[in-house]
Amino acid sequence: MWIVDRGKKHAITSVYLCSTYRKKRLINTGEVEREVEHPVVRAMNVEEAVTKELEPSELGTKEHWDNAYKEELEHYEADGVPGEDWFGPRIKTTIVEFLKKSLDLKSDVKIIDLGCGCGPVLTALNEAGFSNLTGVDYSENAVELCRAVCQDNGFAANIKVFDLVDGPIDELGTYDVCIDKGTYDAISLIPSSSQTQARNKYLDNVVSLMTGDSIFILASCNWTMAELTSQTLNRFTVVGDVPTRKFSFGGKTGNDVSILVLKKSE
Ligand SMILES: C[S@@+](CC[C@H](N)C(=O)[O-])C[C@H]1O[C@@H](n2cnc3c(N)ncnc32)[C@H](O)[C@@H]1O
Repeated sequence: MWIVDRGKKHAITSVYLCSTYRKKRLINTGEVEREVEHPVVRAMNVEEAVTKELEPSELGTKEHWDNAYKEELEHYEADGVPGEDWFGPRIKTTIVEFLKKSLDLKSDVKIIDLGCGCGPVLTALNEAGFSNLTGVDYSENAVELCRAVCQDNGFAANIKVFDLVDGPIDELGTYDVCIDKGTYDAISLIPSSSQTQARNKYLDNVVSLMTGDSIFILASCNWTMAELTSQTLNRFTVVGDVPTRKFSFGGKTGNDVSILVLKKSE
């Protein structure tokens, strides 16, 4: 269980549960906003992994994120506590250590954080010595907060408002590393009948951000490795996964967060 404490002035405002076979996101007063079957109880083999779209949620709307980051911005201005780091602090560290230690990337590789939110991934990348950093998010409030967090942490990053489903993707250029921690998950929850279309448009757009040598790190709490592999199959080749905590349920074993390492297909 991860608890985000907004500081003494504000009691616990957000609790995220991801360690049981079902996960729930509880907001403010503990009201249950959403409850979904944990991916580990769904298919674990690529062959079995027929995508059943997730139950739509307000977490798939821009309005939700605008409101959430407006509140986080106010908290940040009041008490300096940065906003929510999705999936907890362990995952961003796992991703950054993978880039640094396993891939041994140079510090000036061009990295984009897709749906950067308040910037936890960018902050961790900066702390690990990476210097060529871009972050995009479609929420203006997220971008404002992320800019403030980067500035207050003393590093420069190019933070832009950009819609990764509907934006003019060619304007962003290409990157050596694209990182998504929780954004594909949010896009998978859009409350309309076009979830499949939105997911595919997003994946097409990520392909446009990559060259033949680029890698795409995709971290998801909503989809299994098998489901992610099957959903990305036509556009990407899986080159590996980043190990995360494993657990078993109902005779199956899975990861609490799925992290795939992808290259674009030739
Ligand atoms: C679950 S949060 C993850 C935030 C951040 N990556 C982190 O790890 O803390 C999802 C983020 O995706 C952003 N987002 C959702 N749909 C988007 C889209 N179509 N274009 C750009 N950003 C989007 C949201 O505004 C939000 O910041």
